[in-house]
Amino acid sequence: MTDPHIAIHARDVTLSLGSGEKRVAILRGIDLDVATGESVALLGASGSGKSSLMAVLAGLERASGGTIHVSGTDFSSLDEDALAIARRGRIGIVLQAFHLLPTMTALENVAVPLELSGAPDAFARAAAELEAVGLGHRLDHYPVQLSGGEQQRVAIARAIGPRPALLFADEPTGNLDAATGAAVLDLLFARRAETGTTLLMITHDPALADRCDRVLEMRDGRIATDRRAA
Ligand SMILES: Nc1ncnc2c1ncn2[C@@H]1O[C@H](COP(=O)(O)OP(=O)(O)OP(=O)(O)O)[C@@H](O)[C@H]1O
Ligand SMILES: [Mg+2]
Repeated sequence: MTDPHIAIHARDVTLSLGSGEKRVAILRGIDLDVATGESVALLGASGSGKSSLMAVLAGLERASGGTIHVSGTDFSSLDEDALAIARRGRIGIVLQAFHLLPTMTALENVAVPLELSGAPDAFARAAAELEAVGLGHRLDHYPVQLSGGEQQRVAIARAIGPRPALLFADEPTGNLDAATGAAVLDLLFARRAETGTTLLMITHDPALADRCDRVLEMRDGRIATDRRAA
């Protein structure tokens, strides 16, 4: 499983959460191969399992069963600490709830993963990333002082800052107005073209899905359709 052309290789991946009678089967056997550099849109009704699938593929959550290889690394065999190290600098993640660190400014939130990935000029690069998402005037603001859309853009700047090989984004423009959303997407796709990043993006927007190479639709914990974008 060290084929450089395969970014994600998942076989019979299952996820069940909760215990006893409340145990719910959330992912019910996911088979998926994503080529390096491919952009994939993930569609599906609310509750169909999109965020859960992203969490296991990004190494944020351990699958209950099956195997997952990401860039050749066997995620199924790693514990939480090892997964965190495997993600560092290689995987960027924009979550549905942004998970910014509340005690840090926008600039610090973006600079920390750059520092962790070994960038010598982390703060200068973080400022440039925030500038690129239109937040050059909000560097010293704390998350509570930012609007939802501004927090979302900080989360995007944080995720793309280290130039990850893989970028996972959960409705990255969900809180943005049309013009700001379009500008952020242009940035994501431009960055992808520059660095060859593999992109997996959850969206409810069919027009946005069609900007990707490939469109997956989830239904009830399974991938129901898998097609090339129009
Ligand atoms: N910790 C948990 N315990 C039990 N069930 C959970 C847990 N987390 C998620 N679920 C359930 O798993 C299912 C899939 O959730 P998930 O968040 O992956 O859906 P989604 O497709 O991302 O939906 P949305 O479009 O609303 O974000 C839902 O029915 C949800 O209620
Ligand atoms: Mg979700």
